[in-house]
Amino acid sequence: MVLSVENLSKSFGANIVFHDISFSVNKGEIVCIRGKSGEGKTTLLRCLTALETPDKGSVKINNMYLCKEDSNHIKYAQKNELQAIRQEIGLVFQNFNLFPHMNVMENLMEAPLFLKKDSRENIKSRAEELLKSLELEGKEDSYPFQLSGGQQQRVAIARACMLNPSVLCFDEPTSALDEQTRGQISKIIRYLSSKGIAIIIVTHDNAFADEIAQKIITMKDGKITIEPK
Ligand SMILES: Nc1ncnc2c1ncn2[C@@H]1O[C@H](COP(=O)(O)OP(=O)(O)O)[C@@H](O)[C@H]1O
Ligand SMILES: [Mg+2]
Repeated sequence: MVLSVENLSKSFGANIVFHDISFSVNKGEIVCIRGKSGEGKTTLLRCLTALETPDKGSVKINNMYLCKEDSNHIKYAQKNELQAIRQEIGLVFQNFNLFPHMNVMENLMEAPLFLKKDSRENIKSRAEELLKSLELEGKEDSYPFQLSGGQQQRVAIARACMLNPSVLCFDEPTSALDEQTRGQISKIIRYLSSKGIAIIIVTHDNAFADEIAQKIITMKDGKITIEPK
């Protein structure tokens, strides 16, 4: 099991987004999270990736606690450990969030260079390899505004893969794409899962979820139901 969510709750003021939800994800598993707009799908992904702090419960990645409840407070892992755990779970944002002033290669190299993951040379060759596997060869020097939506999304995926995550989350990956690009994204997601990366996809695209998911989690009224397929 790579991800284990236990008794997680999150409210914004009086707005209970979700309450006491638990689920787990295995290595290479593809899980879809669906639910109507406003049911808390993005908030859940943000809690899993430490962009938002839950109120209660715990998130465990590769048997290390990202955060857990300790005498009624959420405590994150210690600083050094936290950095390592956060690298294990990546997020591809709905609007991709590429750095607009950096070209494709710079977008990919920024985080691993900052985190001193490896030598510049090795980081660059890893980026080249990923760009090749995502059919982005020749786009190294392009800026995000020069790319199509599908290409920007693949750059965002490549960037998220630079840190070798065990889990990759996608927020509404098909919402901005046409039919053809949608087919491409399912191919890429299957490829990543075949490499052992666990995939969590938030989507309200039921056909896409039915086609790709091994497990479907539905969020409704602050609760989840889990449907293995
Ligand atoms: N930063 C925030 N501050 C206050 N309320 C928020 C914040 N982010 C989300 N919400 C509220 O939490 C609920 C769930 O939002 P969200 O997770 O974006 O839903 P979804 O992604 O399923 O459409 C909504 O009622 C939304 O208004
Ligand atoms: Mg959302």
